[in-house]
Amino acid sequence: MVAPVLALAGFMGSGKTSVGRALAESHGYEFVDLDDVVVADAGMSVERMFAERGEREFRQLELAALRRILRRDPTPSTLVLALGGGTPSTAEARELLASGCTTVWLCVDEQVAWERSQGTTRPLAQDRASFRALAKERRAVYASVADWAVDTAGLDIPRIAARLAALLPRPLPNTVTPAEWQAEVRGADCVSHIWGGPGRGGLLTQWSQELWAQGRRAVVLTDTNIVQCRRRELKQLAGLEAIGEHGVVVLPAGETSKTLDSARTCWDTLAKQRVHRDDVLVVVGGGVVGDLGGFVAATYLRGLPLWQIPTSVVAQVDSSVGGKVAVNLDYGKNLVGTFYQPQRVLVDPAYLITLPDAEVRNGLGEVLKYALLMGEGLLEHLE
Ligand SMILES: NC(=O)c1ccc[n+]([C@@H]2O[C@H](COP(=O)([O-])OP(=O)(O)OC[C@H]3O[C@@H](n4cnc5c(N)ncnc54)[C@H](O)[C@@H]3O)[C@@H](O)[C@H]2O)c1
Repeated sequence: MVAPVLALAGFMGSGKTSVGRALAESHGYEFVDLDDVVVADAGMSVERMFAERGEREFRQLELAALRRILRRDPTPSTLVLALGGGTPSTAEARELLASGCTTVWLCVDEQVAWERSQGTTRPLAQDRASFRALAKERRAVYASVADWAVDTAGLDIPRIAARLAALLPRPLPNTVTPAEWQAEVRGADCVSHIWGGPGRGGLLTQWSQELWAQGRRAVVLTDTNIVQCRRRELKQLAGLEAIGEHGVVVLPAGETSKTLDSARTCWDTLAKQRVHRDDVLVVVGGGVVGDLGGFVAATYLRGLPLWQIPTSVVAQVDSSVGGKVAVNLDYGKNLVGTFYQPQRVLVDPAYLITLPDAEVRNGLGEVLKYALLMGEGLLEHLE
């Protein structure tokens, strides 16, 4: 389920206010900048508050404002909220965000953030060394609170806003949104159930809870890029406090991971974890981990239940559903493999908001290929 408030977190200069305003305006949502609320409450500027009352008191006021906004009656249902750079630094604020918001971290390079902050009176952007140290400290904070981490490098404000639109809490009246859908693909000895549509990703939490209730476990296979973008979700899925414990296998992103060595790493982890035939391998990622994870699931204990959560266009439109699984050899791609249907596939376009543009184009090329092969219907739809 999507939380009713979309909160934007990130370091100073990451574009929280501009993106939030653009997003809210283009979709008719309410926009609130938390700093503005604190300034109004205190009756003085952030700079003056820091100078006269100190950061601690500022954080208390900020927390009170956040609580008031999120616990408003009636609960806000169409609100985009730009947080302050340091808002998530207190445990209380993180708890509030976790319970009442979908939180997006707008990631910005520290040097870019410094350049954007020059010429402003921001109290924490006056000294280069302490700015750098603060940026490092805050990264860990944002990573712990964010449901989504979006790399803003190379993207302008309208494009970031357009991507985040997929996460808006509720469609506007009179707008047509892609419907939720469900389908089945019949393999030789298994039927794949496929759930699709925006927001469907929320089903994962429900599925993993059902699994635990049955005394079964989910072991997650993913890559380094997905961990950056969806750390919180992966931890929840595997029932872990931190990634890095057994239960989540993280491979380096890219084609070089689609090897027998990587398969061995996965097999070893499953064996060390004493994974049982009733447990589930959940693959979250693009076609590379999808193909590799399918191969591992097909071979470990002669077949483990497999769920595919495709996060790239290629994986969503093609590789996650067809049942072809393989690894590469030095002599060529996909030389060792088999056919193995996932039990479940979850196709949520929201996953694509963190996908780099080049990968989106790459995937759309695949879609175009299918459209040309399939005839006019799909081509017209694409146009
Ligand atoms: N089995 C099949 O039927 C089938 C069909 C087509 C392609 N494939 C295989 O799929 C692979 C290509 O798939 P691909 O293009 O998804 O490659 P990929 O898995 O390497 O993903 C491309 C890049 O995007 C990143 N990424 C993926 N999702 C992301 C997200 N939501 N946010 C941020 N980054 C994200 C990945 O980390 C990677 O760096 C090839 O190995 C190809 O052989 C298989």
